[in-house]
Amino acid sequence: MAQQEDVFKKLVAHCKEYGFVFPSSEIYDGLGAVYDYGQNGVELKNNIKKYWWDAMVKLNDNVVGIDSSIFMHPTIWKASGHVDAFNDPLIDNKDSKKRYRADVLIEEQLAKYDDKVEKEITKAKKKFGDTFDENKFRETNPNVLREQSKRDALLTRFAKALNDNNLEELRQIILDEGIVCPISGTTNWTEVRQFNLMFTTEMGSTADGAMKIYLRPETAQGIFVNFLNVQKTGRMKVPFGIAQIGKAFRNEIVARQFIFRMREFEQMEMQFFVRPGEEMQWFDYWKSFRLKWHKALGMGDENYQFHDHDKLAHYANAATDIEFRMPFGFKEVEGIHSRTDFDLSQHAKYSGKKIEYFDPELNKSYTPYVIETSIGVDRMFLSILAGAYKEEELEGGETRVVLRLPAVLAPVKLAVLPLIKKDGLPEKAREVMNTMKLEFNCQYDEKDSIGKRYRRQDAIGTPFCVTIDHQTLQDNTVTVRYRDTMEQERVSIDALHTMISKQVTGAELFNKLLQ
Ligand code: GAP
Repeated sequence: MAQQEDVFKKLVAHCKEYGFVFPSSEIYDGLGAVYDYGQNGVELKNNIKKYWWDAMVKLNDNVVGIDSSIFMHPTIWKASGHVDAFNDPLIDNKDSKKRYRADVLIEEQLAKYDDKVEKEITKAKKKFGDTFDENKFRETNPNVLREQSKRDALLTRFAKALNDNNLEELRQIILDEGIVCPISGTTNWTEVRQFNLMFTTEMGSTADGAMKIYLRPETAQGIFVNFLNVQKTGRMKVPFGIAQIGKAFRNEIVARQFIFRMREFEQMEMQFFVRPGEEMQWFDYWKSFRLKWHKALGMGDENYQFHDHDKLAHYANAATDIEFRMPFGFKEVEGIHSRTDFDLSQHAKYSGKKIEYFDPELNKSYTPYVIETSIGVDRMFLSILAGAYKEEELEGGETRVVLRLPAVLAPVKLAVLPLIKKDGLPEKAREVMNTMKLEFNCQYDEKDSIGKRYRRQDAIGTPFCVTIDHQTLQDNTVTVRYRDTMEQERVSIDALHTMISKQVTGAELFNKLLQ
């Protein structure tokens, strides 16, 4: 675990050193849980968004996109339930004056019990070797049974407190479990209070009577309130989907783990409108499609898992997360929810407008049910970087840091490198660069030894390095060096474009999605 934390720290440092992610407002000492994307980060982020958009909108005939505004009428958030219920339970430690999410403190306590059990198992595995029977050990070992029973009791109590929205009980659990503040080490806790996560601002001047409005905490509501506009103008027939990519804002109490939990982030969401009663079949369809989308990137199938929700929001009748193995454990990257007709019905109620669909095949009107797929761009970015970051030992004792990014997502697709800075090689390299840059994001580099230049490209995940040497001037061939295998191959300049194009455009991945 400590080793994994170490890798995570190195990844964060790498992101800064190579222009992927910077703390926001850094020269003013930063702003909590807000980040800026640098020259390589923005390319990777744009490529992620394009991969999502093309897979959802281009590949599915019945999905279209929109781009709704961040500011919306405040009643939208009343209708959606965010004004009344988009809360986190917070608790303060009176000694350190630090604020925590009460539910997160309890979840961490649950994880501690899990860790204890895992430690017992690792110890026993070492001791008994091949003869070790893990299931039997779990069922009979007194230490494991004791920790497991404490954990189960805590989970039951915690789930009930959350379900009953019982803030006093949450506090009591923290006290009974002896959970201390990591800074002060004391249990001197305040009451637990609900804290709404929406940011507010004002629209219009105060003299005119300014209106309090919210920065959207999800992009989904912009889709719901445009349901009729898109359905009518696009002559869409149920089932159909509306997709959107955009910024969302949440005043997270516990904002940490780098870009995993931010206060300003980006979402890629799709609401798929279906006939009531058909939602479960579409829920299964989108679960499977979305998992394929992740796995097609080749980051290792074993690094993904579904996590079905036991506790459903009052409007949902099914929900699951797609989790990725981050350096700090399996974590949610995407949520897939069956949201019934809750949102459209609420907007009909609060706006006083009829929001229904006339189904010509059934010859009747109804409020469609909705399947939502919702993924954070920044979390996806983090999962890809975490999976791609490798420190490798090479022959001769050398090491390299390489980002084994899927070529389709890599910020720079190819680097063009003249072997030396004379003899007409830079001019020839510029010529190659000028044709390649029409289609691919390329980088020209003539500084330092070729080895150093390869390392720089490895560190940002460039899949191809193209070296121009004296032979190029004679036979129009170049050396292509592959990032992952580090193998080199002589290729004609005329064949370069087709070879690179095949690997960096999404077509091959999209084929996998359609199978
Ligand atoms: N419309 C549904 C919705 O917003 P959610 O589970 O709250 O559902 C969906 O968020 C996704 O948005 C998450 O799976 C995560 O990837 C991303 N996300 C949510 N809060 C985030 C935050 N504070 N920072 C970064 N990403 C976040």
